[in-house]
Amino acid sequence: MSVQAGLSFEQAPPFSLPLRFLLTAPLFLLAAAVLIAWAPESLATRWTPQALALTHALTLGFLAMAMLGALMQMLPVVAGSPLPAPRPVAWLSHVSLVLGTLSLMTGFLSANPAAFGIGIVLLGGGFAVFIAAAATSLGRAAGNVTVWGMRLAVLSLGLTLLLGLALALLRAGAWTPPAAEAALAAHAAFGLLGWVLLLVIAVAFQVVPMFQITPPYPPQLSRWLTAVLFVLLVLRAASALVRPAAAHLVDSGLAAGILLFAVVTLRLQSRRRRKLPDVTLDFWRLGMASLIACVGVWLAARLWPAAAASPLYPMLLAVLFMGGFGVSVVSGMLYKIIPFLAWFHLQAQLQARAGSIPTMKEMIAERGTRLHFRIHLATCALLVGGLLWTPLARAAGITLALSALLLWINLLSAVRRFSRHGGRFV
Ligand code: HEM
Repeated sequence: MSVQAGLSFEQAPPFSLPLRFLLTAPLFLLAAAVLIAWAPESLATRWTPQALALTHALTLGFLAMAMLGALMQMLPVVAGSPLPAPRPVAWLSHVSLVLGTLSLMTGFLSANPAAFGIGIVLLGGGFAVFIAAAATSLGRAAGNVTVWGMRLAVLSLGLTLLLGLALALLRAGAWTPPAAEAALAAHAAFGLLGWVLLLVIAVAFQVVPMFQITPPYPPQLSRWLTAVLFVLLVLRAASALVRPAAAHLVDSGLAAGILLFAVVTLRLQSRRRRKLPDVTLDFWRLGMASLIACVGVWLAARLWPAAAASPLYPMLLAVLFMGGFGVSVVSGMLYKIIPFLAWFHLQAQLQARAGSIPTMKEMIAERGTRLHFRIHLATCALLVGGLLWTPLARAAGITLALSALLLWINLLSAVRRFSRHGGRFV
């Protein structure tokens, strides 16, 4: 199903609804950059207040923000089922996600129980509204591989949220959940590998062949991959409680699934039919290379257990997964979604003839996106280097700030073009 065929104008939410999420995300990337430049030594271990604040600026402020905006737009397209009550859902979940993420970050940085309390209420309430709306929409949708992957990703988001709320209550000193260590491991695994990775995989099945003009994913892979990964995540969480030794076996299955997805995606992209340069493709390739690097680092740590015990090991995995994979793929997607929506709404609102409005490609100048990709690539390298030598981490903070600003300016240029041609946002 092509986007044009699947998206009728009546079903699509007004441009302003997904746009507010998509334009807020780069600002949290900027906040993450400020944290790194301000306290580069916090990258040395995962438990510093700055590292935890940074993690949630990236996972909630950047990744989840962009992913909620994208889901809001994609549900009517790929699932044929729009969100119920899209205006109040967008308004409530956006405001709570912005303020809740800021409160949680403040809680980590100041260890102030009240900041955690506000974060718990806002993030709990805002996500609950969005998850209920997305679940209604996905429940009504006819199941295809993308819809199934989205269902598992949203379920993972729900589990991540519940575990995150329990951990935040612990930090605020209000409650001690049982098995807190296992809850933390499950929170991070369902958040990163369930919510983020499963959603990217589900969306990739649809958008890689469509936007990058590649052959489709092998049907066996697209039918099973997200379900197998989700079952492995559940087994991983359960084995932490009853049989920790089994966790290694489950991790091997997760690593194999991740490697398979990344290698197949790179192979499909190398066989694309139109070989024109495309910055989204570069962001995706960097994302897939980072996933392969994550598996390589994990494997090396299995072979040299001393390396796995080093505080550098989880930080290297986090930098490669969140920065190299998550930020890259989401930035690439933003460069497709916003120009597409600007073009689509102009076309539908103005009943425009071809030639009288900018094409998708003309919405954002390629010079700007290419410069952004180069700075982002340098940032990823500096972040990895910064784990070993702190001055490089400070430089990474500065280049990340440039990268976030450039992303924001590039996206705004499409929005300005949209409004200059008479487009309406609501
Ligand atoms: C939805 C996306 C989320 C992702 C991907 C995510 C990811 C993570 C990661 C990777 C860690 C660090 C774990 C480690 O180093 O082992 C973490 C810790 C934590 N997260 Fe989240 N998180 C998310 C949402 C939330 C939410 C909504 C809350 C609370 C309302 C929350 C509260 C916490 C707390 C309190 C900790 C620290 C636990 C501790 O050390 O005491 N997270 N999260």
